[in-house]
Amino acid sequence: MEQIFLSPRSSCFWTTRPAVAPYQIMKRYLVTGASRGIGRAIAEKLAASDVELLLHGRDTVALADVCNSLKPRCARVVRLIHDLAVTSGVSDLIAQAGKDPLDLLVNNAGVAIVKPFGEITRVEWEQTLGVNVTAPFLLTQHLAQNMPPGSSIVNILSIAAKTGFPNWSAYCMSKFALEGFSQSVREELRDRKIRVINVYPAATDTNIWNNIEGEWPRKKMISPEEVASAVAYALSRPADVALENITLSNLTGNL
Ligand SMILES: NC(=O)c1ccc[n+]([C@@H]2O[C@H](COP(=O)([O-])OP(=O)(O)OC[C@H]3O[C@@H](n4cnc5c(N)ncnc54)[C@H](OP(=O)(O)O)[C@@H]3O)[C@@H](O)[C@H]2O)c1
Repeated sequence: MEQIFLSPRSSCFWTTRPAVAPYQIMKRYLVTGASRGIGRAIAEKLAASDVELLLHGRDTVALADVCNSLKPRCARVVRLIHDLAVTSGVSDLIAQAGKDPLDLLVNNAGVAIVKPFGEITRVEWEQTLGVNVTAPFLLTQHLAQNMPPGSSIVNILSIAAKTGFPNWSAYCMSKFALEGFSQSVREELRDRKIRVINVYPAATDTNIWNNIEGEWPRKKMISPEEVASAVAYALSRPADVALENITLSNLTGNL
């Protein structure tokens, strides 16, 4: 049976999707880089009948596939297509996310340029900074303003936020930078009862490895679903419990 309900947060939001009790409190989640990999797995884990999912990506076909597959399980799914390497793309994403408060922001979109530091071009450096650091900074700065107590920000960092690896200097630079930013923001938001959850996956079997030169043993990598499960578990803790730092790796060692 279909039910019509009204989100308490938005007077213009009516839907005829099934399964939610009338006047049930709606939750709004934004996941960047949800078109594939870890972001997609997180979106899949968080899909629920009382959730409005705002899913971001650049690849229109891949993102449409994710959105279409999750629509039947969510109150609403919104597609946000923006290039986060440029600040205008980030501004457009913030504008499209709108003024209604978010209960969750997942800063997941990321790029990996892997080559000797002597060969990294200025454009590649700027692109890495833009997507991996400046975008999460601007999204957090603008969107945290309206987030209510009990909401959460999840930052997908990496073991490369803690350790340097040869040829990964641009990537490590960006993840170390995001680590410093998010640790500090966490302390600023603690009094507002907003949790900042930092996730540090080791090598995870996603498309990010497709363009990285070399042989990378996929079988030794963890799955994006495992990362997503850890995120979902941290978010499922009571609002006054902070599971703040999550490191995931293969038990038998990293690559
Ligand atoms: N895979 C790993 O081994 C691993 C380990 C630790 C941490 N991480 C981190 O996990 C996050 C997700 O990575 P993944 O492994 O899932 O990689 P992935 O499969 O390549 O997915 C990356 C996502 O980021 C988006 N993205 C990349 N550049 C973008 C840009 N310029 N503008 C907007 N969106 C952009 C992609 O969108 P489109 O495809 O639609 O362009 C895609 O949705 C990243 O922050 C990464 O650093 C990954």
